[in-house]
Amino acid sequence: MVRLVTTFGESFRVSDLKSRIANLIRADGPMSISTYMQLCLHDPRDGYYATRPGLGTDFTTAPEISQIFGELLGLWAVHEWQQMGQPEQINLVELGPGRATLMSDALRASATVPGFHEAMQLILIEASPALRTLQAERLSAHHVRFETELTALPSGPTLILANEYLDCLPAQQYIREGEDWRERVIGLDADGNLGFGLAAEALPVADAPDLDAIEVQPALKTLIDQIAQLVERGDPVCALFIDYGPVGETPSDTLRAFQNGEQIHPLAAPGESDLTVDVDFDHLRGLAHAAGLSVYGPVPQGSFLLRLGAEARLNQLAKLHPDKADDLYDGIRELVDPDQMGTRFNAIAIGNAALPKPAAF
Ligand SMILES: C[S@@+](CC[C@H](N)C(=O)[O-])C[C@H]1O[C@@H](n2cnc3c(N)ncnc32)[C@H](O)[C@@H]1O
Repeated sequence: MVRLVTTFGESFRVSDLKSRIANLIRADGPMSISTYMQLCLHDPRDGYYATRPGLGTDFTTAPEISQIFGELLGLWAVHEWQQMGQPEQINLVELGPGRATLMSDALRASATVPGFHEAMQLILIEASPALRTLQAERLSAHHVRFETELTALPSGPTLILANEYLDCLPAQQYIREGEDWRERVIGLDADGNLGFGLAAEALPVADAPDLDAIEVQPALKTLIDQIAQLVERGDPVCALFIDYGPVGETPSDTLRAFQNGEQIHPLAAPGESDLTVDVDFDHLRGLAHAAGLSVYGPVPQGSFLLRLGAEARLNQLAKLHPDKADDLYDGIRELVDPDQMGTRFNAIAIGNAALPKPAAF
């Protein structure tokens, strides 16, 4: 039995999804943050990504800031294909491709490499019907296959790219109260407003670190298990994840919402704002090791991009387009500067135990 023991209410405009969430809480009791995130992002009728993804308005991402980001990732993929011995067929997979900017830049940069596009089977794993339509349009020069899970990939050598995908996987939070752990949940206050509280039920937390609060994304384990399943088929596999999150510390309460470029309260606009959490890179690395996979990184995004040649590509582009040199420079600076995205974001590569070290790690 779960009972809400504390709440704080705040008054927000009541949207359709908000009232449906309130009804679900009335019927079933307080809601896990992971269920709330899943509904807010993917509910087929009102979910943020499912119906009104605001990439570029509510928030922006590295490929939208500089074309060099996607170009370098495309060349990274070519390098890994070459390290695999240039197989005649390769699954080039992207998880959560958003507006397909990363992939179109990656494909433009890799187009001149003999054999790569001929070998490539392009597979996008995208939950949002609205974004699938946009991605198919923007990549219409290529044959694109859509899937919802890595388990659906055809067998064969596989390269996976994922930028800002992990941070939208639903999270759960637990708070330590003395010897007990309680899940942080969402309930209703006396006025019917959504608020955070603690579940009454005490939980044993296996392997509890010495912390007062912890945030976990159960889907990280599912993802690693799925990569391990691909590896078990005997094919070379290498997955590159770039996302924000700390290294050397465990996230506790990082749930954030963004609307029109501003951070807002995560309960203020369900389905009308992006929801995101920090990725626990140490946990991800631990899960991959436990599954027998090889792990490279995490390395800070700034170092990763500079090692891949961000500066040389910037200079080349600036020479070609002197009128855009300032914008090109500002974009790359935002991505690599340690005070901007350069250290807040990290890159990690996960794959077969026999995988040679990927470029830039
Ligand atoms: C923050 S956006 C990042 C978009 C893009 N990678 C970029 O860097 O601009 C997250 C993307 O992941 C997709 N997504 C989120 N959860 C997903 C899931 N469980 N399965 C498939 N796609 C998902 C979203 O629809 C969106 O395309």
